[in-house]
Amino acid sequence: MAAERVTIVEVGPRDGLQNEKGEVATQDKLALIAELADAGLARIEATAFVSPRWVPQMADHEAVMRGVPHRPSVTFSALVPNEKGAEAALAAGAQALAVFTAASESFCRKNTNCSIAESIGRFRPVMALAVRAGVPVRGYVSCALDCPYEGEIAPEAVAAVSAELLELGCSEIALSDTLGRGTPERTAAMVEAALRRAPAAMLAGHFHDTSGRAIANVAAAWELGLRVFDGSVGGLGGCPYAPGAAGNLATERLVAHFAAKGIETGVDLARLSAIAERVIARFRPAGDALR
Ligand code: HMG
Ligand code: MG
Repeated sequence: MAAERVTIVEVGPRDGLQNEKGEVATQDKLALIAELADAGLARIEATAFVSPRWVPQMADHEAVMRGVPHRPSVTFSALVPNEKGAEAALAAGAQALAVFTAASESFCRKNTNCSIAESIGRFRPVMALAVRAGVPVRGYVSCALDCPYEGEIAPEAVAAVSAELLELGCSEIALSDTLGRGTPERTAAMVEAALRRAPAAMLAGHFHDTSGRAIANVAAAWELGLRVFDGSVGGLGGCPYAPGAAGNLATERLVAHFAAKGIETGVDLARLSAIAERVIARFRPAGDALR
């Protein structure tokens, strides 16, 4: 019998580096992206075409997107909030796009200065551009478990936003624990609600790891049929508009978790661990806020 497979989406160059206070040179970002591709990560979110006034760390998005290495086996995607971002990302060679909204009105407003409904309205022209370019669009639903401003979020609210994104034409919904304080029980309830509106094959899990339960949450989502999970190398990450959110689930921990279960990731764990060590030495030399 063939081994089971999981798809790992590397979001470190975007979700990780968007949160770093010090400047990271474009060349350093590109070197990291190339190393991650060489370690076997087949989907890499390279950058975000967002306002440089809102997230200055991603201001070099065009140079990053244009500079990603040529690897036929790797898809390099860009996060975009609106038509302006989508146009620029596609012009720079993005092979996939990701839009982002939330299951919490307060977070959506803090993060993108608009309501959930308005954010979805902004995605319509993004979808039209993506269809024309023939690229897939992932839709993130932030605050799928907790919101830094509203507290616990109802699973049905997550399911409703997910259904709207699918109706719009998203090919995948990334159910996102932005704060990283979720439990496996609440993750399961949220994923079950999403599954009433969408097939498992169209859902992905994006967990931050503030409380150290991200792997347990991944395991709960896997049990319910999810087969796509996000990681950020070295556990870098957070969101500038989500106070209290620590790093993302470290990709090397995610890969090690599946490797221990005999589930294929396609990623070379030794190579990835070596990259993670360098990332941690550079960005978290004191070992703070990393799991
Ligand atoms: P706004 O200020 O309401 O929009 O921002 P605006 O239309 O009035 O534009 C303001 C300025 O931004 C203008 O420039 C626009 O041209 C420019 P100015 O004339 O003032 O010089 N602008 C852009 N520039 C570059 N690229 C663009 C773009 N759009 C407008 N695409 C906006 C609205 C959405 C743009 C802003 O709120 C924004 O960029 N927000 C992004 C916030 C962000 O990136 N957050 C982190 C990523 S989300 C995340 O981390 C969560 C996730 O990981 C999942 C999870 O864990 O939950 C995905
Ligand atoms: Mg995130």
